[in-house]
Amino acid sequence: MCGIVGYIGDKPVVDILLEGLEQLEYRGYDSAGVALKTASSINVYKAQGKLGNLRDVLTAHLSEVSHSSVGIGHIRWATHGAPSVVNAHPHTSNCGDLVIVHNGIIENYKELRQELEDKGYVFKSQTDTESVAHLIADIYAQVKDLPKAVHMAAKKIQGAYALCIMHNEFPDMIVATKRNAPLIIGVGSGEYFIASDVPAFIKHTKKAIYLKDNQVAVVQKSSSLLVEDENGKQVTPKIEELPWEPVSLSKMGYKHFMLKEIHEQPDIIRNILTGKIKSSSSEIVLDEVNLNVDSLKKLNRIQVIACGTSLHAAMIGKYIIEDLCRIPVDVEASSEYIYRNTVTDEQTLVIGVSQSGETADTLTAIKQSKVRGSHILIITNRPDSAMAREADSLLSVNAGIEVSVAATKSYIAQLFSFYLLALYMAEIKGTVEEEKLSELKFELLMLPQKIEQILTHKDDIQKCARKYANTRDFIYIARGINYPTALEGALKLKEISYINATGYPAGELKHGPIAMLDETMPVLSILMNGSVYEKLLSNSEEAKARNARMIALTNSTDKKLDELFDDIIRVPDVAEFLSPMISIVPLQLIAYYIAEFLGKDVDQPRNLAKSVTVE
Ligand code: M6R
Repeated sequence: MCGIVGYIGDKPVVDILLEGLEQLEYRGYDSAGVALKTASSINVYKAQGKLGNLRDVLTAHLSEVSHSSVGIGHIRWATHGAPSVVNAHPHTSNCGDLVIVHNGIIENYKELRQELEDKGYVFKSQTDTESVAHLIADIYAQVKDLPKAVHMAAKKIQGAYALCIMHNEFPDMIVATKRNAPLIIGVGSGEYFIASDVPAFIKHTKKAIYLKDNQVAVVQKSSSLLVEDENGKQVTPKIEELPWEPVSLSKMGYKHFMLKEIHEQPDIIRNILTGKIKSSSSEIVLDEVNLNVDSLKKLNRIQVIACGTSLHAAMIGKYIIEDLCRIPVDVEASSEYIYRNTVTDEQTLVIGVSQSGETADTLTAIKQSKVRGSHILIITNRPDSAMAREADSLLSVNAGIEVSVAATKSYIAQLFSFYLLALYMAEIKGTVEEEKLSELKFELLMLPQKIEQILTHKDDIQKCARKYANTRDFIYIARGINYPTALEGALKLKEISYINATGYPAGELKHGPIAMLDETMPVLSILMNGSVYEKLLSNSEEAKARNARMIALTNSTDKKLDELFDDIIRVPDVAEFLSPMISIVPLQLIAYYIAEFLGKDVDQPRNLAKSVTVE
């Protein structure tokens, strides 16, 4: 997953490309590059590392680049070939006339490369993309028609791609195409923007065309835009008015976006609650669910598919839905789901969970289930995303743009959406008594202030986190509904601090992981009052007996804990059923404070990207 931008118009292109790439940095940040049309040629500038490095390169060439008003740019998350200048995009054909930027993966690149090398093409990089540059150049040399060459090349390419292409013989033209990767054309007045995502151009225009798979767009400076279907037939594209306001992303005084986003969580829940639950005695309003009462009652299975943090929210969703609605729920990593012959049909509700709504594995899984006739419900933070466009029912979590690669506020919003959805379905199916429903609604309404209480005591959590910052490994244990919380806490820590953190169902410790315990190993026990409290306490005793450094995250006031644990992080009391909404917050903070103390790049951890658009 990389980010693409393109511009053609009258304004200086360098600033537009750099600003656009900055907005797309969440898609990757290991190298960046631009190709700019100058008076006599197309010049390419690239740099390894963050966008700032490319900015420096361009500043050093200001006189060459400042007058250009046509160009394409790219920010890379390496898939094929290490992050380096030579592997950075744009890639150039051997003749030097054609340049290309690409997001996605060309699956048959090895075969293409062999074929092209046999014809005498010389490859400079290890990327899959370079084969497309040579392929289009090769076809162009024969047909002398750039859009036609792109169409013909697309037929030979297997995999996912969004491509922007420029050619020296057409100084005022950008050709763009896509398949299974996002590409949007912003339509300005006498100017066009091309980008992987709306934030790259929203400050310039709110009119846009979502290019469809296999379409080829030809954007020209003469203020013309031509879109062709896969057979080269001209089509009239739908110009949409984007429901977006340009947002200036600011840390609001926090050191990192992650810390700011953790602090936004109480208000996000308040926002989601607005209009959905008025009081503990009123019915849940969830107009977004387009399943009528009959189809809801007929559902015999739910499958939830997601990746990473969204998968952890989905795992808790299983506990919630099965408990309240008495429907069996399977949860699966999208990347596994898509290669299995799943039992999915018209009576299966398929729920896709994704912060970005663009995750390739989840998107593919959703498309597969759609073909099998399932109702598709999408829980996402991006109502304009590819997944949202596949949805029969769309639950938009409205967490606002999440900048930090480590998901925090989007997770809590997804989790909250599962509570609302399950309560809504339980009300319709009549699977929960009135009294229990009102108790749960009452507790849900109280959650924002309980999270605020945790945030008020964040200094204590910081102190505790620092004590463990130099550990090499970290174990999180829990049981029941908080088992996925343990997984999520561990994921947060490993992705931003690079500490080897693992979450276990505590009952599993004795089946293997306990062998790792000694006086160097911190074990954090998510010990929330409820059905598994005593069991988890026994598992914690077992860990203590192996000299592990014991930390409790608890809402219990049990005195026994003082002897058993070296450190205790206390959280407000909460019903066991809702406790994942509370227990995750200190874990986010622990991960944050450890990474911050270690001086890690908290918001943009190494090797990761916010939106994973490759399978
Ligand atoms: O956009 P999605 O929710 O579909 O993304 C799924 C994962 O890539 C994502 O949750 C990832 O695990 C986060 N970096 C976790 O913090």
